[in-house]
Amino acid sequence: MAAFTLAHLSDPHLPPLPVARLRDLAGKRALGYLNWTRNRHKFHRRDVLDALVSDMQAQAPDHVAITGDLVNLALEAEFAPARAWLESVGAPDRVTVTPGNHDAYVRITRHHFREAWGNYLDGDDPPGGGVMFPSLRRRGPLALISLSSAVPTPPLMATGRLGRVQLDALERILAGLPAEQAFRVLLIHHPLRSDSRAKRLTDSSSLLALLSQYGVELILHGHDHVHSTIWLDGPKGSIPAIGVPSASAIAHGRYPGAAYNLFSIERDGAAWRCEQTIRGIDDARRVQQLQQIRLM
Ligand SMILES: [Fe+2]
Repeated sequence: MAAFTLAHLSDPHLPPLPVARLRDLAGKRALGYLNWTRNRHKFHRRDVLDALVSDMQAQAPDHVAITGDLVNLALEAEFAPARAWLESVGAPDRVTVTPGNHDAYVRITRHHFREAWGNYLDGDDPPGGGVMFPSLRRRGPLALISLSSAVPTPPLMATGRLGRVQLDALERILAGLPAEQAFRVLLIHHPLRSDSRAKRLTDSSSLLALLSQYGVELILHGHDHVHSTIWLDGPKGSIPAIGVPSASAIAHGRYPGAAYNLFSIERDGAAWRCEQTIRGIDDARRVQQLQQIRLM
């Protein structure tokens, strides 16, 4: 059987930001709006995102994972364009989305992403008890498990949280899905380890404990807008946790230009083989292969 290819991109922060009404800019959004109009709009560019996505589509991945921050301030006017962009990436059964903190930026629109992007977030089975996450999708040899770490936070904070209900449901999924049955991929916006108190996943220690007990084969995240690979403790060796830059960014400060990852996954006897290919924009803003790494 041919290898299964999973593409991962994150944090498109879809430009342009719609013109905001003054009454929508209270509280946290006021700072975010200033930050966008002064800085971020210079670095997140639609032409970069479009070039990256068309390069990704030319690679014909079997599935695409997008780990959040599709929008910026979670203004009502941002959700429909984000849906249209998702449809340009692929059909809901070929694209799995998990939300980021910017998708649930403020309380008033914190659930809008569910209505707007529903079938991109859904698992194969209808959610039980109205709880949407974790969601589970089986595609080829993969089990894609999406968690939502997206919660509204006070100004200047960008922390994430899973909560007990979600962690308990994740434990039930992992207990029923051993490594022999699938290549388990965990999708989450926030990284599992962070040096930043303001940007961390607050209950990551509970998640790390579950992973060291049950394991998964691969963890994909966004949020930090940088290339990142760390290895976490699993029951039978280490688990790669891989972060990807923003899919729309030009290089600025410590942040690299837009990139995405391709994972080529296949069985190798009793084990798995997984190779990561990084493709991203170069100085001339052309997309090309940057690196290839054998993960397992
Ligand atoms: Fe982001």
